[in-house]
Amino acid sequence: MHRRLCRRLALAIFVAILLSLYRSVQELPPVNPPHPLQNRGQVPAVTVLIWWYPFGRKTQVKDCDTLYNIKGCRLTTNRQLYPLSQAVVIHHRDLGGNVSQLPAERRPAGQRWVWMNFESPTHSSGLEVLNGVFNWTMSYKRGSDIFIPYGYLYPRKSTGGKVVLPSKSNLVAWVISHWNEDHARVKYYYQLSRHVDIHVYGKYHQQLQNDSIVLTISPYKFYLAFENSQHVDYITEKLWRNALMSSTVPIVLGPSRANYEQYLPADSFIHVDDFSTPKKLAQHMMFLDKSGRSYRKYFDWQKRYNVHLTKFWEEPYCKVCEAVKRARANYKFISNLASWFQ
Ligand SMILES: *[C@@H]1O[C@H](CO)[C@@H](O)[C@H](O)[C@H]1NC(C)=O
Ligand SMILES: *[C@@H]1O[C@H](CO)[C@@H](O)[C@H](O)[C@H]1NC(C)=O
Ligand SMILES: *[C@@H]1O[C@H](CO)[C@@H](O)[C@H](O)[C@H]1NC(C)=O
Repeated sequence: MHRRLCRRLALAIFVAILLSLYRSVQELPPVNPPHPLQNRGQVPAVTVLIWWYPFGRKTQVKDCDTLYNIKGCRLTTNRQLYPLSQAVVIHHRDLGGNVSQLPAERRPAGQRWVWMNFESPTHSSGLEVLNGVFNWTMSYKRGSDIFIPYGYLYPRKSTGGKVVLPSKSNLVAWVISHWNEDHARVKYYYQLSRHVDIHVYGKYHQQLQNDSIVLTISPYKFYLAFENSQHVDYITEKLWRNALMSSTVPIVLGPSRANYEQYLPADSFIHVDDFSTPKKLAQHMMFLDKSGRSYRKYFDWQKRYNVHLTKFWEEPYCKVCEAVKRARANYKFISNLASWFQ
């Protein structure tokens, strides 16, 4: 008799627990409503808030799963999602030093503010007021929390084989739109052009063929991959796309040769510093123009590598999501942004 009562009581308690569990499941808040930039059908593990479209240009962002096989990312520009965002990406150029444009709401615990910048220090003002503001850096510079070079070489699946170059009917080209007489690259161009005929394309010069740099540059043997300013690791698409993807020999003006060699085989490019004068560089180009075998050696890298060109802006955004997923709960902030980014 007593035992049966006990059993019934236990059953009643069990049912009550089940019922309350069921209720609490029902009362869970609804999952976040869908938003245009997010991947559908799946509750995102990570929300990345893009504070502005870089340079104010609206861009379509495909989802990170399709592009890079990074799952569970929601990329959004909807500032209402700020309290739910694990990371907020702030493009430096659109901030400048105007801290009043930073998020005004309190920063949720664990949220990271990501300083995103792909310009060189020469073209990045207002850094001094940003010490202690950001948690992560994302830039082309080695040592960034999220390091994203403008491009890189990656090993080919099958090595060997013959390198087939596009047919070459011209000597040397340069594409330039931001013409500035004070830039080292313009000064060098003036000197070099006294010894070789350089075909110049861009805003104030000849138009690109079919709006395509690669199409325009491919018939040239050399390309002037001259950076707008000289800083460590500042090696842009002028090298990766304009020169390498066009199968031309890059003549680089930027950081040191040693720095370039951290990215490229030493025998795949010509550095302006390899020659004591622009005239000597011009003579070397003319020698290579005559010597097919020596010229072709510059393309040995193609047997082993392909060029990866960074996709702006999907790639940086998705890398932020990936970094959030990988990160442990360690707190950090960038106390020395101005002195680090030089
Ligand atoms: C800084 O940003 C605020 C808010 O957008 C704006 O009102 C102000 O004019 C900006 N200041 C400067 C110096 O650009
Ligand atoms: C350039 O564009 C024209 C017109 O669209 C096209 O007919 C031509 O094939 C293109 N040239 C190359 C080399 O792709
Ligand atoms: C991010 O930086 C802020 C400001 O320095 C700091 O208060 C916060 O603890 C940091 N958060 C993380 C997750 O590192």
